[in-house]
Amino acid sequence: MIIMCENCIKKFKIDDKLIKENGSKVRCSDCGHVFTAYRPAPAPKEPPIKYNPKPPIPSSTNGLTGNIISISNQKGGVAKTTTCLNLGISLALLNKRVLLIDFDVQSNLTISLGYRNTNSFYEVMNSDSANLANFIIKTKYNNLSLLPSNKNMVLLNKKYFGIQNFEFILRDRLAFIKDQFDYIVIDTPPSIGFFSINTLTSANLVIIPCECEYLSTHGVDYTLKFINLVKEKTNPRIDSKILITRYDDTNTVAQLIAAKLKRMYKEQTFGTVIELDDKIKESSIMRMPVIYYDKQSRSGLKYMRLAKEILESYGGEVSL
Ligand SMILES: Nc1ncnc2c1ncn2[C@@H]1O[C@H](COP(=O)(O)OP(=O)(O)O)[C@@H](O)[C@H]1O
Ligand SMILES: [Mg+2]
Repeated sequence: MIIMCENCIKKFKIDDKLIKENGSKVRCSDCGHVFTAYRPAPAPKEPPIKYNPKPPIPSSTNGLTGNIISISNQKGGVAKTTTCLNLGISLALLNKRVLLIDFDVQSNLTISLGYRNTNSFYEVMNSDSANLANFIIKTKYNNLSLLPSNKNMVLLNKKYFGIQNFEFILRDRLAFIKDQFDYIVIDTPPSIGFFSINTLTSANLVIIPCECEYLSTHGVDYTLKFINLVKEKTNPRIDSKILITRYDDTNTVAQLIAAKLKRMYKEQTFGTVIELDDKIKESSIMRMPVIYYDKQSRSGLKYMRLAKEILESYGGEVSL
């Protein structure tokens, strides 16, 4: 049987008999990560799944011309979903056609835009057509569309994670719609699996939201290492940048950690910093982006600044 390390995604061939019926702890000889490996499920009725990437895997490009931004951090609660929503709406307000993709089974992005019981990428994968255009919702906000998430998404991880070339499934689906959007911004879960690896394989830019707290640099470091692995294996064109979020400028520890992050990662950090702002919490209760909840809110204005910083750094005219 083939098992794959959850940490470094290296694959190993091992004898089935070495793995107990209820799973056995194994250690990856490459990165040292310990995880539980399970025996393969009993012989499937359908032929084994294998994914054939649509274009041959390119070596110097991820195959897409659009700007695809992944919001990633292996740590939870660092404002990934908040950043996805508020950066997306800011780009839309700057006249960019934006698609948000909720690639987290928790569906927080979908819920924060006021949707429930929608289709998701699971239904895309179970439809006859590979084109995901029919599953995209035009939201009530101008220029802003959403590919939502739902609980079925968990089944995708079970079915596809680890199959040959699973990393390219999202990239190949996005190829159908990339011309319809200027920016595609993807919210990801804080774990390594089908969703995070597919997102990083599709993305041109990864934004790593980071709080200035004890151990937060570890989360960034871990995420950057993982991005480097994806860069080597499936997406050589990926770029990444750290965004300081939930920043409390009255807190000395936060000031020290922000200075450390800027020292360590220099130009790999955004100039824009998103401060702690109660308006974010209030706006999420109202299920709306913060700039619509309060157009003078400092976090709303900062997410606009972030959108402009991205447009200035990564091309596209800024209509101020
Ligand atoms: N700038 C901010 N100021 C105050 N609260 C924030 C800010 N950004 C995010 N939050 C809150 O922090 C919590 C975690 O944010 P969330 O975006 O859900 O993180 P993640 O997606 O990384 O788990 C949420 O309750 C959110 O409302
Ligand atoms: Mg989230």
